[in-house]
Amino acid sequence: MVKYKQNETPLLEAMHKYVADGALPFHTPGHKQGKGMHPAFKELVTEVGLAMEVSLMEELDDLHEPQTCLKAAQDLAAELYGADESYFVVNGTTGAIQAMILAVVNPGDKILVPRNAHRSVISGIMLSGAIPVFMQPEIDEQLGIAMAITPEIVVQTVADHLDAKAVLVVHPTYYGVAADLKKIATIVHDHNMLLIVDEAHGPHLKFHDALPMQALDAGADLVAQSTHKILGSMTQSSLLHAKKARVDIERLRAMLSLVQSTSPNYLLMVSLDVARMQMATEGKALLARAVELANWARVEINKIAGLYCFGAEKMAASGAYTLDVTKLTVTVKALGLSGAEAEYILRHKYGIQSELSDVYNVLFIISYADRKSEVEKLVNALKMLAESHGNLAGKIEKQVVVYPVIPVAKLSPRQALFASKKTIAFEEAKDKICAEVITFYPPGIPIICPGEVISQEVIDYCLKMQEVGLKVIGPTDVTLKMIKVVNILEE
Ligand SMILES: Cc1ncc(COP(=O)(O)O)c(C=O)c1O
Repeated sequence: MVKYKQNETPLLEAMHKYVADGALPFHTPGHKQGKGMHPAFKELVTEVGLAMEVSLMEELDDLHEPQTCLKAAQDLAAELYGADESYFVVNGTTGAIQAMILAVVNPGDKILVPRNAHRSVISGIMLSGAIPVFMQPEIDEQLGIAMAITPEIVVQTVADHLDAKAVLVVHPTYYGVAADLKKIATIVHDHNMLLIVDEAHGPHLKFHDALPMQALDAGADLVAQSTHKILGSMTQSSLLHAKKARVDIERLRAMLSLVQSTSPNYLLMVSLDVARMQMATEGKALLARAVELANWARVEINKIAGLYCFGAEKMAASGAYTLDVTKLTVTVKALGLSGAEAEYILRHKYGIQSELSDVYNVLFIISYADRKSEVEKLVNALKMLAESHGNLAGKIEKQVVVYPVIPVAKLSPRQALFASKKTIAFEEAKDKICAEVITFYPPGIPIICPGEVISQEVIDYCLKMQEVGLKVIGPTDVTLKMIKVVNILEE
């Protein structure tokens, strides 16, 4: 196979070549390279883009058995990130996480996972039939958010579950906080377990020394990255990286095939090829600008009375070892506003859309695409928010949030998924086995998972989260008036 360089894009090249060849399309997709596409959609994508929106041509390789241009594009990603193998994933990091979990655990095997894992981790566990052992991350009481899993918690949980097969960590968290992953990798490997990492928020870490160390460099065996979240690929396209030493690569490939379409979208895949080339050629300069802008914004935000944007000063605890400074978590509680209220005002009064809000905070992502003028607008909007909407003598105490302890599990998530169920009033669900995930999203931390016993504490916490306006994701009834529980007759 031709050896490509990092400034090349083998998949893009192959797609151009196929279109230039001009073969008459008696093949899928039905729009026939844009010809039949309705004008309402045609407006959204260029003619060239639609002509390239093809599938399964021999020149364009096969995601499920890549040998030519897709293999070359994936190999370039592996080379850039320092993996032995990298894979394009068209079902987001959700698909990559499911494949990673399926690749390392059998039904009944234990896997250690943080309680603040994204719900895709829970779905991966359900698919695999594994038994999750949850690790509680440190909670920063001032910020009201979960930090990273500490090496100490990993040591303790691994020691309590020496039969576990793998440890999954989120690195960094949604808020950009990272633990000492190198230390965690050593602990995990010393116990013959695999370290798999949800690095959804870390595809850019490699390109700036001031950012937390990327998981592959810290010793992770499998790493899933949402290239689309932080870098330049299209939404839904992610990368999965593997180190061969401990991973059964054949099994990993089979699991990736299991969770991915047989008709992967080439525009999604080529966006990964181009995003990789962009980072290889300009990544360091682009990330230098993003880091500088974020550092500037952090200083400016911290000058605004009533706002706080945490930075290096929080990086003293073991659950907060290093920070991705491009994540700006602005704590608004001193204004007497909830994060959700501040998010709403910023969106509807000042035209600023944040990434997420929680009880105390609003999170803004500065990426390689941002410029000074946009970040200045953000800082100005925050100034106006603080001046016009804050009530510095406000209702801070009302919003105290303490995450509930992890409930006791009576069934595995998979057993609960397939069990017979009934729907009852949520407020009367105490002591019942939950059949659904309840997550307040963002930030996507499951409060209760299928198979766990609903405690009064969980009920009270959920009601409080709803009171401050956070959106419930997971249960069939998103108003959370009703909940599905497992129908155990002899209970
Ligand atoms: C920490 C984390 N992991 C995984 C995912 C899933 O990623 P994707 O949206 O690419 O499927 C998300 C999405 O928000 C996330 O925040």
